[in-house]
Amino acid sequence: MNKEKIFIFDTTLRDGEQAPGFSMNMEEKILIAEQLERLGVDIIEAGFPVISDGDFEATELIAQKIKKAQVAGLARANTKDIEAAGRALEKAVNPRIHTFISSSDIHIEYQLKKTRDEVLKEAVKAVTQAKSFTKNVEFSPMDATRSDWKYLCEMLSAVIEAGATTLNIPDTVGYTVPNEFYDLIRYIKGNVKNIDKAIISVHCHNDLGLAGANAIAAVQAGARQVECTINGIGERAGNTAIEEFAMAIKTRSDIFNVYTDIDTRQIVPASKLLTNITGVSVQPNKAIVGENAFAHESGIHQDGVLKNAQTYEIMKPEDVGIQKSKLVLGKHSGRHAVLTRLKELGHEIEESKIDAFFEKFKSIADRKKEIFDEDLLAITGEVLHKKEQDWRYSVENIQISTGMFSPPMSMVTLKDHDQNDEEVFEVAHGNGGVDAGINAVKKITGTKARLKAFNLVAITGGSDALCEVSSIVEEEYEGSVLKVFGSGMSIDISVAGVHSFVDALNKIEFMKKTGGKRIKPETSEGV
Ligand code: KIV
Ligand code: ZN
Repeated sequence: MNKEKIFIFDTTLRDGEQAPGFSMNMEEKILIAEQLERLGVDIIEAGFPVISDGDFEATELIAQKIKKAQVAGLARANTKDIEAAGRALEKAVNPRIHTFISSSDIHIEYQLKKTRDEVLKEAVKAVTQAKSFTKNVEFSPMDATRSDWKYLCEMLSAVIEAGATTLNIPDTVGYTVPNEFYDLIRYIKGNVKNIDKAIISVHCHNDLGLAGANAIAAVQAGARQVECTINGIGERAGNTAIEEFAMAIKTRSDIFNVYTDIDTRQIVPASKLLTNITGVSVQPNKAIVGENAFAHESGIHQDGVLKNAQTYEIMKPEDVGIQKSKLVLGKHSGRHAVLTRLKELGHEIEESKIDAFFEKFKSIADRKKEIFDEDLLAITGEVLHKKEQDWRYSVENIQISTGMFSPPMSMVTLKDHDQNDEEVFEVAHGNGGVDAGINAVKKITGTKARLKAFNLVAITGGSDALCEVSSIVEEEYEGSVLKVFGSGMSIDISVAGVHSFVDALNKIEFMKKTGGKRIKPETSEGV
């Protein structure tokens, strides 16, 4: 049987990035886009160019850098949005404009305050305008799954006529269930004029935990593009997770007559890179990429796996890029060995970052006997995603003492790059080492920022494990709340905690200077 290809459209940098807590700076977006290309996605939705200068520039830069995958920009069905998307994608090898307008009565009546007729005309106009920039145009009738099926098909027939090449069917609010979605895709195939001229795509949200199942049902009904994100991030409960969809298709190739071009060995590196950049970990029991996804705890399972892994494992860990921790490097390893191993793990560090990377490697190797692949990847994420030249504070020293009977005390020195690189030193007490360290940072910076969450992950095993702290920090500023993630890494938990707080403060300072994204009261602008 000849298998058909499913195109993977990744929207980590658009639907994923717009979710609270997942915003990324330009450098971080580029790192993700490059990893998506290694992962083998077919289309990268790089941003929503009209929404901010940052989104425009990120889309533009990704369009220039990415050569293999198509690069898409999102646009509402209006002239300004489509023009912005068209301009941002000018230099892309294969640009795609993705335009959308709602098709459900509830959106048409209450949000758009228009008639069905007006909306249909705007959809056609938008696709026609998008075609003047590229022949590769995707159209999405937003909230399709709560739309009248007959009207939906009228709209889809009209946009095909106008030249749309991909018809994306979004389950915008995660409302549908697999058999209903299957029926809807079959209905579209049977009732849209010239449906063979376009690829049917699906975009499923996970509000009921069904995003993966709905995407699979749609593929069984004939959809040939699936929109996904790494770790399933996205609005509210997120989108179909790329790792879940790709591994379902691969693992059950006995029943599916389709395949994807995803290099599944890049799945865990992609998941870890995103976690590193955003500071948001996946839950331990998350399918495919969670800490426990390949861990066997019960005696019966362990016994079975030792005799034959297939007794309790339906996928091989190496197929998703999990390597058994390999002891390869230590403090005596030279640059060549370290960089070669990194390359084998799929990362190449640009010349200008090698010194910073190696300095971090050495400082960890001096204190930690064994450097595992996971440690190496964590150091890479830490070094690569930092935009230190723009940061206000750098940590010069942290000294923390704790004990059962003496009050925890910290001595912290920060360099303030906005004050002629002045070094400022403070001593503080606290309820534990982390609290003492953060109190010293607060004294130095005078910040009013508050630590809202603190999450600690041990990257490798053992009492000398490298650990990573991600924190959520908030500060009120000019009537809105700036909310950022900070990350810090060290062998010492308290030191990692202080680093993560300083990282967050730097991001807040950067946002204040550049007028970056803030948490605003909800507007109807978002998607
Ligand atoms: O969820 C949604 O409807 C969207 C569209 C823009 C495709 O994200
Ligand atoms: Zn969406």
